[in-house]
Amino acid sequence: MKDKQYLLIPGPTPVPPAVTAAMTRPVIGHRSEDFARLYESIEEKIKMVFQTKNDVFILTNSGTGGLEAAIANTVNPGDRVLALITGNFGERFANIARAYGANVEEINFGWGKDVDLRAVEEKLAERPDYKVVLATQNETSTGVLNDIAGIGALVAKTNAILLVDGVSGVGGVEIKTDEWRVDILITASQKAFMLPPGLAMLSVSEKAWSVIEQNKSPRFYFSLPAARNSFVKWNTAYTPNVTLFMGLEAALEMMLEEGLENVYARHLLLARATRAAARALNLSLLAEDRCASPTVTAVYAPAGVEADALRKVLKSEYGVIFAGGQGHLKGKIFRIAHMGFVGKMDVIIAVGALEMALAQLGCPVELGAGVCKAQEVFLKKAQA
Ligand SMILES: Cc1ncc(COP(=O)(O)O)c(C=O)c1O
Repeated sequence: MKDKQYLLIPGPTPVPPAVTAAMTRPVIGHRSEDFARLYESIEEKIKMVFQTKNDVFILTNSGTGGLEAAIANTVNPGDRVLALITGNFGERFANIARAYGANVEEINFGWGKDVDLRAVEEKLAERPDYKVVLATQNETSTGVLNDIAGIGALVAKTNAILLVDGVSGVGGVEIKTDEWRVDILITASQKAFMLPPGLAMLSVSEKAWSVIEQNKSPRFYFSLPAARNSFVKWNTAYTPNVTLFMGLEAALEMMLEEGLENVYARHLLLARATRAAARALNLSLLAEDRCASPTVTAVYAPAGVEADALRKVLKSEYGVIFAGGQGHLKGKIFRIAHMGFVGKMDVIIAVGALEMALAQLGCPVELGAGVCKAQEVFLKKAQA
């Protein structure tokens, strides 16, 4: 059926009607009083999501642009950078630092594993001269949630600043930017914020500003000092996507109306139900429960089934869209997002379609077993 789809990928995620409606308002001039009031209103709300007293800059670019802004403003050629890597996006962050000439040292924890704090502590003790530490809050490629509070406590004891990629976590998973000593937190619009792609949001601590002000790397569009100069007038350095700003205000209103605690609890419940359903279908999960992401679940395709062939059936027969694996996991896993504008019935649809697609591909699957388990989790009759 034309246009009937169930978009369950980890970004872009479905956009709620209230957000779409806000984005149909007439475009406004970005140097206007109306825009200033819009930015101010967003700022008041987004600080609650970030749990920060610092400024949160809204940049018109995707999440990777936000990561690049963080690096371009803090990393000079030859600077020592420690990258904590748990998957594809941790690798991307490290590669951006390399592109800016950093001397990057990686700790690679393996795809599907989380950051081991003991290894971080040892590494930081070995070398006191790291300038920047890079971490990923929620590794989208593997469905792993890292302990940012733990990492932040370790980095705060050093002179290094902590840059956190929160692109697929913030808004769906709690983050206490100031309390956890995150110096730059970056996120993007098209994930838990329920918007189309195109905005990155980024907070900067005082410790980070002292580094940014000394930094010599070329920066223009991504200049955070330029962003700050405009921000004091509730403006942006360059033309912002005013339409997405309108959507962001509406999305933040929705999140605050639901209550951030409830938003986070909802994501957790959907993750639990998804994981319980996968297990009931004898499917293996990439991440352990201990560090499982509340926003995206990575599942191994069963023996004899190519994950991308399974996804193809899901899309063509049922309009259900899962993400595939990245890097060496391509063809081996599929990823179900429960991120942003999603509820219990989205999980039921996802699991119901998954059961049918598996059966169509000749897998011995007990139809209804996964759906039943998800229902039990929702009805609190089963522990995930
Ligand atoms: C954790 C993480 N970091 C960075 C990115 C890159 O963001 P974008 O695709 O908006 O550039 C993504 C996108 O999926 C992500 O999930």
